[in-house]
Amino acid sequence: MYGKLRPLIFRLPPEAAHGLTVALLRLAGALPPARALLRALFAPRGAARPVHACGLTFPNAVGLAAGYDKDGLAWRGLAALPFGHLELGTVTPRPQPGNPRPRVFRLVEDEAVINRMGFPGRGADALARRLKGRGRRADAPLIGVNIGKNKDTRLEDAAADYVALARRFAPLADYLAVNVSSPNTPGLRTLQGGDALDELLRAIGDERDAQARLLARPVPVLVKLAPDLDEAALEQALSAICAAGMDGVIISNTTVARPGLTSRLAAQTGGLSGRPLCAPNTALVRRTAALLDGRLPIIASGGILRPADAQEKLDAGASLVQLYTGLIYAGPGLVGRVVEATARG
Ligand SMILES: Cc1cc2nc3c(=O)[nH]c(=O)nc-3n(C[C@H](O)[C@H](O)[C@H](O)COP(=O)(O)O)c2cc1C
Repeated sequence: MYGKLRPLIFRLPPEAAHGLTVALLRLAGALPPARALLRALFAPRGAARPVHACGLTFPNAVGLAAGYDKDGLAWRGLAALPFGHLELGTVTPRPQPGNPRPRVFRLVEDEAVINRMGFPGRGADALARRLKGRGRRADAPLIGVNIGKNKDTRLEDAAADYVALARRFAPLADYLAVNVSSPNTPGLRTLQGGDALDELLRAIGDERDAQARLLARPVPVLVKLAPDLDEAALEQALSAICAAGMDGVIISNTTVARPGLTSRLAAQTGGLSGRPLCAPNTALVRRTAALLDGRLPIIASGGILRPADAQEKLDAGASLVQLYTGLIYAGPGLVGRVVEATARG
């Protein structure tokens, strides 16, 4: 069915198409019969396989990657698709407009997207309001909140933004993801290396521990890395992540590389996602798994457009996978197909 809809959706500019999809999912999420219909339409065949990772039990191995629902507007609708986790955000402390439009480009020939959104969003208060009072169905997806600094927060003050967000969202989320890897906020990726990463993660770790004591439950914190780190930088980042007692890594964000693209839009500035990221991402998951040697779980995010792509990442050492660009090219039915395939293993 998505094959028939896709040409119509692709007539809209990418950000308008996305806004429409989120609006429809938000509407469906607000209406219990529509939610039930979505659940019935997209239910996977057979039982899902729960995944135990980061001290949590994920209903299945497949999650929504950050950036799709930055403000948590549509999470109730997305929960019916049938994701095992939804990573909302990246949320920043204060609302901000992001970069000027156009800032999202579909590279159809490459089944890829380039985006330079720059964390547009309604800010922490708005997302917190959307998450308050969320009930728990046994099969409901876990909710992660991906946190980032405001564009106008100086890098030397970045830790204060992340700590404030950790404090705010620990009570509302099942896990937190630290985004130090978006290519679209100037300087953000310098937080992935050296003393800056050590200091940032220690500050976040202290807040996490304080929140876990208050809430009397674990508050896992994962760190999302860029795919563009060289071997030494990856090793150093993983050492800092382990030393700070973090709970997992997300491999990876979008890439600033442009591997073998054919689309005329390939020269646009921003982070590339989708099919061209798939194989390099799987290789990075494998390298990360070798370096971590079982110390921390890995969530793989990068170019999953078919169930086999997801299985390759699990075989390379990931515990869970996330989708974004695959939803644009393969449609929402991809979620259930990946859930089915990864349950079979
Ligand atoms: C339009 C767009 C916006 C994104 N925004 C974010 C974001 O706010 N935070 C983040 O951590 N990742 C963001 N990402 C990266 C995705 O979460 C994901 O890691 C990346 O796209 C690779 O997966 P994919 O190939 O399945 O899309 C964004 C990706 C896209 C395409």
